[in-house]
Amino acid sequence: MKTIEVKTGRPYNIYIEHGLLSNAGKYVRNVSSAVRAVIVSDSNVAPIYAEAVDASLRENGFETSLFVFQAGEERKRLSTIEKMYSHFYEHDITRTDIVVALGGGVTGDMAGFAAASYLRGIDFVQIPTTLLSQVDSSVGGKTGVDLPTGKNLVGAFWQPAVVLIDPDTLSTLPGKFFNDGMGEVIKYGCIRSRSLFERLEKENAADIIDDIIYESVSIKKDVVEHDERDTGERAILNFGHTFGHALEKLYDYSGITHGEAVALGALLITRITEQKGITEKGTSDRLLALLKKYHMTTSTEFTLPQITAATRGDKKSSGKGLNFIFLREIGTCFINKISTDKINDYFCGE
Ligand code: NAD
Ligand code: GLY
Repeated sequence: MKTIEVKTGRPYNIYIEHGLLSNAGKYVRNVSSAVRAVIVSDSNVAPIYAEAVDASLRENGFETSLFVFQAGEERKRLSTIEKMYSHFYEHDITRTDIVVALGGGVTGDMAGFAAASYLRGIDFVQIPTTLLSQVDSSVGGKTGVDLPTGKNLVGAFWQPAVVLIDPDTLSTLPGKFFNDGMGEVIKYGCIRSRSLFERLEKENAADIIDDIIYESVSIKKDVVEHDERDTGERAILNFGHTFGHALEKLYDYSGITHGEAVALGALLITRITEQKGITEKGTSDRLLALLKKYHMTTSTEFTLPQITAATRGDKKSSGKGLNFIFLREIGTCFINKISTDKINDYFCGE
């Protein structure tokens, strides 16, 4: 068992262990004296894992209920949250009860937001079952839903009471979602850990998945502890994301996955900063080789002016500019704010 303590305003532990899911109740009981626990899960995950979690919660004295929504980002909406609130009400959930998010980032973000807002805030637990949610979204307390006008536009910072990561759940995860998570893992290597990046180059990620999860979560924990409310350093976690979100928009959120878009965004921006002499020479070639190794998209039919134009309206805008994350070399990055009216010239000019 590996344990990581996250020292945010409300501190909590992250446990990583194979088979942890069927012992979840014990760890939930350690952080909660709740009478009732609501498991929130989606239509793909619930049939595989809800029974084991439910049994373990019952063994540890919780009265349980299960709320299942149709899997997919399209359901990450206020309408699903409203249904969740009704379920909570019908099952007599009180302020001292607990919500258990069992699933990927969509489940964790929504269950966390419902927990943050129902009765002005009840505890919740994250049991992430995708690589992306294990290395990223289950840690750090960002919760929320999408609006028709954009992703994650409504939400709250609400830290979980505990995070239970069981790498065994990845055995049932479809390959394309594994790659999505790999996009975030490669990001951590780029921004903070040359040694992680080098291991991804030399070894096969699936063979060292426990180490990858541990190192990724440790990096995220460190960044979040320094900037829990995302007003400064936490922006480095968005390396590749500004171009990535622009690409997702250009592909109408269907032709490219989020992880692929982020990884491609990281590659495109690093090519430019390397040409400008900001990033060590050879970095973008190494990134390209790594993306190819993990079967990620490495090119796009969209042009740079189209991509920079699509960054307009990015929710990461602050004041009149947008924060871009540049690499100095693999493992070291910095934040560079560029004013909105200069973005096109900066990236597309000579
Ligand atoms: P997801 O939750 O939709 O899961 C991807 C797919 O895998 C779904 O179809 C799901 O049903 C299925 N699935 C999950 N676990 C499975 C398993 N073990 N076996 C079989 N199928 C399984 O998506 P995701 O990629 O985990 O997360 C993406 C979401 O995370 C986005 O909404 C994004 O905005 C959010 N996110 C949040 C943060 C944060 O800090 N809160 C960070 C990054 C991303
Ligand atoms: N995934 C970005 C963040 O948590 O800040």
